[in-house]
Amino acid sequence: MTVNGEAIHYRLDPQTPLLWALRDASNLTGTKHGCDHGDCGACTVIVDGRAVPSCSVSIGSLEGSEIVTIEGLSASRTHPVQQAWAAEQVSQCGYCEPGFIMAIAALLQSNPSPGPEAIDALPNICRCGAYPRIRKAIARAAAAAAPAAPEGSNRLSNGSSGEEQFSPGNRS
Ligand code: FES
Ligand code: FES
Repeated sequence: MTVNGEAIHYRLDPQTPLLWALRDASNLTGTKHGCDHGDCGACTVIVDGRAVPSCSVSIGSLEGSEIVTIEGLSASRTHPVQQAWAAEQVSQCGYCEPGFIMAIAALLQSNPSPGPEAIDALPNICRCGAYPRIRKAIARAAAAAAPAAPEGSNRLSNGSSGEEQFSPGNRS
C-alpha cells in the first residue's frame, strides 16, 4: 500500500488494524485511538479518497490502497480544513481533531458544498462539544476551497448565528 505517498509493505499479521500499523510501525501517531469499534471517528484516515475508521479495517484488506493520514494531508499544514480549524480556534483538548479534519477533508472532496444533513452525518464525536466551532470551520473551509462559488451558494449557511448544536451521527 501507499501511505502518505510512500510505498509501504508491513511485515505484520494481515489482521492488524490499520490504526496500529500506522501508529506502531510507521510512527504516525497523529491518528488517534478512541473507541476501537468504528464509532467515534478519532482514528479516521483517507483510504482511496474515502474517510475510513482505521481501527476497523485490517491491513490485509488494503493491499494496493492509497492511504493518507493527518501527517500527509498537507506538508505545509495549509490544507483549507487545517487553516479553518486554526482560524475558528476549534481545538479544546484536540483529541478528535485529526479524525475530524480527515473526515471533513474527504467530505469536501466529494461534496464541496455540503448541506446540514451531510455535516450531521459525520460519525465523528467531539467529547469537548466543540460542534458549533466545528460547523463554522467546515463552512470556512468549504468557502476557501471553492472561491469561485457564486455568492450565496454556500448551502452550509442555515441563517443561524452558527451557535446551534450539531450532532454528527445524531450523537449529543
Ligand atoms: S477508534 Fe476508530 S472509530 Fe473510534
Ligand atoms: S476538542 Fe476535545 S474531543 Fe474534540
